[in-house]
Amino acid sequence: TGSNHVRIVEVGARDGLQNEKTLLPTSTKIELIDRLSATGLTTIEATSFVSPKWVPQLADATDVFHGIRKLPGVSYPVLVPNLTGYERARDVGATEVAVFTAASEAFNRANINATIDESIERFLPVLERAKADGVKVRGYVSTVLGCPYQGEVPVADVVRVARRLHELGCYEISLGDTIGIGTPAKARAMLHAVAVDVPMHALAVHFHDTYGQALANILSCLEEGVRVVDSAVSGTGGCPYAKGATGNVASEDVVYMLSGMGMHTGVDLDALVATGAWLAAQLGKETASRVTRARTTS
Ligand code: HMG
Ligand code: MG
Repeated sequence: TGSNHVRIVEVGARDGLQNEKTLLPTSTKIELIDRLSATGLTTIEATSFVSPKWVPQLADATDVFHGIRKLPGVSYPVLVPNLTGYERARDVGATEVAVFTAASEAFNRANINATIDESIERFLPVLERAKADGVKVRGYVSTVLGCPYQGEVPVADVVRVARRLHELGCYEISLGDTIGIGTPAKARAMLHAVAVDVPMHALAVHFHDTYGQALANILSCLEEGVRVVDSAVSGTGGCPYAKGATGNVASEDVVYMLSGMGMHTGVDLDALVATGAWLAAQLGKETASRVTRARTTS
């Protein structure tokens, strides 16, 4: 808290691409990550080792991870839902993974076909192996400000799941507004409640921009003290099992806002904008980043 440095966790190659209708060639995904590596980002989520039947968009996880240039000082975490995913990730040399569950039972059932408790049971062997292997584990909690199936999600449920993941050894807990329905005061109150049980330095925020509230939510969470923000270049993304959810907040817009506030990310905005514009062209759609739109249209 109080620090001027914010770490951006770039999730575009994972969250961004998992929900796109356009299937990008593996080589394009590799180029995306290599371009992102050159922008100064220090955490770039690369892909997911989930079931290819559930998320065909990321079925090439092994080839993507194998193909990217791993820059020193940059981490390339990957999502793993279970031990199978962990082993696939380790086979290709991943040194950081992320496990994911939710504060809502209904969403978890749709997304990973498990209750919250069952999902945590599946993580236990992953966390055990990771500890022995010296692999860092991040934990995601989805639906922290509402669920597409059950509606309201009590803050106490978010706190309980976040605390559990932290106790089990996740070094950082990312709080996800999966469907982007949160508003700033609610977001701040949720973060405040979680930070009573999990230290603020171990928390991150993950906003989707469905209702256009993401930057406002991030600002209120920064004021509360969070210093890690998840975002996706060009604002792509969304969870295929969260009906109606649209893209993540665009990394370009977050970096622009932070730099205007005198906060440092170490990210080169021009390079990020160029990457976002390039990605939008690859996907054949207009960028969702307002900054990239402003800087690339004549
Ligand atoms: P299941 O069908 O309940 O379980 O899926 P299963 O264990 O019976 O597995 C089914 C098949 O998948 C089997 O193959 C397994 O071998 C295989 P079959 O026998 O039918 O040929 N399998 C795997 N294959 C490759 N890698 C694996 C793996 N595990 C099983 N790791 C399961 C359960 C968890 C696997 C499935 O539900 C799944 O993969 N879900 C992933 C869904 C997903 O990726 N969602 C998006 C990420 S979460 C998100 O976006 C939210 C976030 O951004 C934060 C936020 O915004 O809130 C993080
Ligand atoms: Mg997400």
